[in-house]
Amino acid sequence: MSIQKVGVAGCGLMGSGIAEVAARAELDVVVREVDESSVKAGRGRIEKSLGRAVKKEKISAEERDEILGRIRFTTELEELADRDLVIEAVVEDLEIKNQLFQRLDELCGAETIFASNTSSLTITDMAAAVNRPDRVVGLHFFNPVPVMKLVEVVRTIATSDETFDRAFRFAREVGKEPIAARDNSGFVVNLLLVPYMLDAIRQLERGVASMTDMDKAMVLGCGYPMGPFTLCDFVGNDTTLRIAEIMFDEYREERYAPPPLLKRLVAMGRFGRKSGKGFYDYSGDEPVPLPV
Ligand code: CAA
Repeated sequence: MSIQKVGVAGCGLMGSGIAEVAARAELDVVVREVDESSVKAGRGRIEKSLGRAVKKEKISAEERDEILGRIRFTTELEELADRDLVIEAVVEDLEIKNQLFQRLDELCGAETIFASNTSSLTITDMAAAVNRPDRVVGLHFFNPVPVMKLVEVVRTIATSDETFDRAFRFAREVGKEPIAARDNSGFVVNLLLVPYMLDAIRQLERGVASMTDMDKAMVLGCGYPMGPFTLCDFVGNDTTLRIAEIMFDEYREERYAPPPLLKRLVAMGRFGRKSGKGFYDYSGDEPVPLPV
C-alpha cells in the first residue's frame, strides 16, 4: 500500500522542503506548525522555492499553484490524524520530538507510520516512547531538500519490514534515491561529514590557513560544491553545534567534540545564512569573511 497522505510536523528549512517534494510528487500534504507566524514563514519558504523553479522554467506558474494547492497548513495537531505517514522536522530536541510523537500516537490511526528527519538523535529513542515502535522509521533528507537526491532510510531493531519498505518506497516516490542505514547517531552522512566540518574549524583555530583559502582548497582541490565554512554557514552553526553535542554525547570521541570557536559563533548569534552572519557576512551581494 503506497503512501498517499503525508503529514509534516515543523515547517522550517527541512520541513518546508519535505512538504514541497511530497506535494510535487502529487501527494496530499498537511503541514503543521506551532503558531500562525511560523505557518506564514513556512509557507513563504515553499513559495520562494517554487518561485525559483518557475523562474528556471522547471515548472509553470499553473503547476506551482497546483503544488501549493496540495499543501494544507495548520496549527492543529489533530489534522494529522488521518495521515498514512507523519514526518517530524521539528527542533533537534528528543524531549520535544517525543512529546509530539506521544500526542500523535493518541490521535493517529494504528497504521500511521511515524518518521523522523533527525540528523543525529537515534530513532530508537523515539520508537521507545510510543506504542507503535514497529511503525517508527528514520527519513533523513538533505539540505536543500528539493535539490539533494539522497534520503537515508533508517531502521531500528524494532522497525517492521513493512514499515521500512513503505518508507523506502515513499523516498523513491518523492524523487529521491534512498539508502538503508542502521540506527546509529549520524547514520552515514553525518557520521563522516560532521567530523570533517568540525576538523576544518579546529584547523582554522590552529591558523593552518585563512578561512577563504581553506574553502577554496576543498572546492578547487576536491571538487566539493562548497568549502567547509560555507557549508557550516549553509547548514547553520547552531544546528552543527547541536548535532556535534549529540554525537559527542553518544560516542565520547574527540572527533565529534564541538570546537570552542563554533560555540563562540553560536553565542554571538552568528548562525550562518539564516541569521545573515556566520563565518561570512551575507548582507551584500557576495559573502564577506568575518573576523573569527
Ligand atoms: N531550494 C531549491 N532549489 C535550490 C536551492 C534551494 N534552497 N538552492 C539551489 N537550488 C537549485 C537551483 O535552482 C539550481 O537548479 P538548476 O541546476 O536545476 O538550475 C541548483 O540547485 C544549483 O543551484 P545554484 O546554481 O544556484 O548554486 P550551486 O550550483 O552553488 O548549488 C547547492 C547550490 C545545491 C546548494 C550546492 O552548492 C551544493 O550541493 N552544496 C552542498 C550542499 C550540501 O552539502 N548539503 C548537505 C548538507 S548536510 C545536511 O543537510 C544533513 C544534516 O543533517 C546536517
